[in-house]
Amino acid sequence: MAKTRQTAEFGDFQTPIELAKRVCTLLLKRGVAPRTIIEPNCGKGAFLKASVEAFESASRIHGLDINPEYIEVARKRLPSTVRLRVADFFTTNWQQLLSDCPEPVLFIGNPPWVTNSALGSLQSANLPKK
Ligand SMILES: C[S@@+](CC[C@H](N)C(=O)[O-])C[C@H]1O[C@@H](n2cnc3c(N)ncnc32)[C@H](O)[C@@H]1O
Repeated sequence: MAKTRQTAEFGDFQTPIELAKRVCTLLLKRGVAPRTIIEPNCGKGAFLKASVEAFESASRIHGLDINPEYIEVARKRLPSTVRLRVADFFTTNWQQLLSDCPEPVLFIGNPPWVTNSALGSLQSANLPKK
């Protein structure tokens, strides 16, 4: 499949739900029992959906993504208790968000697949401030 500029710049590959479920099942078997789950680049929400189903221990679930269309897709497939928002990972106030989250916290997901040099050649601003 050809990559568009947008999929390249945002390292975009939406994880198939079956794969996300297998990852969560494995974590569950290993005794992972989070009270908070955070997916910082949640895309269309495959890992959030798999997490909701796998981790009954979690009472707080956050999903963030820079792409508003993906957040809308995620909103439609997830329960309203999942806190979704359009946000840039690099400018999110993580300290504030985490201060309100019961522990243990599980960060889960499939981060953007893009290198600094690819971002440089695209003259992208999708980078942390240096
Ligand atoms: C590899 S995809 C994975 C999506 C989702 N985690 C999954 O596993 O299906 C990477 C995601 O990161 C998002 N993304 C890229 N740069 C971001 C940024 N600076 N802040 C928040 N999300 C970002 C993209 O929109 C995309 O949905």
